[in-house]
Amino acid sequence: MSSESRIRCAALRDRVMSAEAAAELIPAGINVGMSGFTGAGYPKAVPGALAERIRKLNAAGEPPFRISVWTGASTAPELDGVLAEVDGIEMRLPFQSDPICRDRINTGKMDYVDIHLSEVSQYAWSGFLGKMDLAVIEVAGIREDGSLIPSSSVGNNKTWIEQADKIILEVNSKQNAKLEGMHDVYYGTALPPNRKPIMITDPADRIGEPYLACPMDKVIAVVETSAPDRNTPFKAPDETSRKIAEHILNFFHREIELGRLPKELLPIQSGVGNIPNAVLEGLDAGPFKNLTAFTEVIQDGMLKMLKSGTLATASATAFSLSPEGIAEFDNNIDLYRDKIILRQQDISNHPELARRLGVIAMNGLIEADIYGNINSTHVMGTRMMNGIGGSGDFARNGYLSIFVSPSTAKDGAISAIVPMVSHVDHTEHDVKIVVTEQGLADLRGLSPRQRAHEIINNCAHPDFRPALMDYYERALHSGRGMHTPHLLEEALSWHVRYETQGQM
Ligand code: COA
Repeated sequence: MSSESRIRCAALRDRVMSAEAAAELIPAGINVGMSGFTGAGYPKAVPGALAERIRKLNAAGEPPFRISVWTGASTAPELDGVLAEVDGIEMRLPFQSDPICRDRINTGKMDYVDIHLSEVSQYAWSGFLGKMDLAVIEVAGIREDGSLIPSSSVGNNKTWIEQADKIILEVNSKQNAKLEGMHDVYYGTALPPNRKPIMITDPADRIGEPYLACPMDKVIAVVETSAPDRNTPFKAPDETSRKIAEHILNFFHREIELGRLPKELLPIQSGVGNIPNAVLEGLDAGPFKNLTAFTEVIQDGMLKMLKSGTLATASATAFSLSPEGIAEFDNNIDLYRDKIILRQQDISNHPELARRLGVIAMNGLIEADIYGNINSTHVMGTRMMNGIGGSGDFARNGYLSIFVSPSTAKDGAISAIVPMVSHVDHTEHDVKIVVTEQGLADLRGLSPRQRAHEIINNCAHPDFRPALMDYYERALHSGRGMHTPHLLEEALSWHVRYETQGQM
């Protein structure tokens, strides 16, 4: 496709330059907003060119060149990976899942601010994060009037374009031109006390515009790219994820029988990963029809459900597709166009909407404790894995918050169910259901002591169950408080044992 058809605005066509020339326009020490959400819609060329510039400066012994990078969520090696590798990131927010970034965070070389994804734009608008100097945004095209056709994620792009003094646009001709019209960018948000209700009462509702408004005078460079989004393929569901999916599906059937869920369920939110994908496959194989999704990302499983009619509509802020998923989407985009709505993340993850629509939230966990507190982010309490992402937006406010995990990690050395979590992301007050391949713990309406029995008996691996029950019983009879019994001197001893002996 010629650049005229992707860059239809003549004035902005005049600002086309190479990624290297655009990267020269980024000064050290600034806050840079970048597009990108779970491997979709991130800038493909400018971050790499900037990293190369930094690498040369580092080699020449120049003072450290670092910027702060704000995105929608995780990106890809071409952004997070390359910039982290040259130690070019001072501070990163609000989510990452890159191994090099993770290393820099956990070795103290990079600051990381891990915040609820729905809240990021409010943070920026309220001035909590300081000034945004520049934004680098991937788009699928630029229209005659300078407005932008978003690409495969919307994320925080609306806010970044509004907040940044200067903007570099990457126009990616690999993004399907038929993405045009799939987005819903809402310009009615405001800060307290001027907020108005967000008028979405169904995941299919559209309340905004298909385009991003962009003041032309802010655009300092336009870079043409042609590179695919990058995502790792999903593993085929294994026995563990299939069992977890089966427990959840049985639970849904029971809730329908009890009249607590309609037969179309309620809008589904599903985290990314192999287990959520297996649940989606299970739903697709079952009797469900016309379900809806009000979620953060559209993964491969959701495309299959949309195609088969299991899912009628999916509202999200981004795609998170495997290479096969991208091919399926591109080849059949006419089928998906009317069924998918991509919104900015302060709307896709809005707590008001998650509560109003009654979302069924399904997310992964690193560890859960016997009382139902969840750690989604920290390995052994101190090392960041990815971040809280949108899990808190949905878990706290949804109708049902379901957390899933294998019952053990690292070949059985680690129990996912522990006496006390070593870090808390979702408290016992927000968690309704915990599921492992062993079974499902329904915590609704239970006291802490009742929850301990439910979780240990249903979710813990049999190898760890007796030790967990022993801990609980001794805590109960320790003479301390009996509401949430704990042995404080022992509560984190399982983690210490793993760190010192390699086995919980
Ligand atoms: N202790 C140490 N490591 C653990 C662990 C534990 N208790 N539990 C899991 N892990 C490790 C696994 O071994 C694996 O490591 P590896 O990549 O080196 O093999 C890694 O964590 C991922 O675990 P896995 O079982 O494959 O699950 P996952 O891919 O579904 O990820 C989370 C689980 C919690 C890390 C992931 O769901 C997450 O980042 N959640 C927070 C954000 C979120 O929920 N986003 C969705 C909102 S829309």
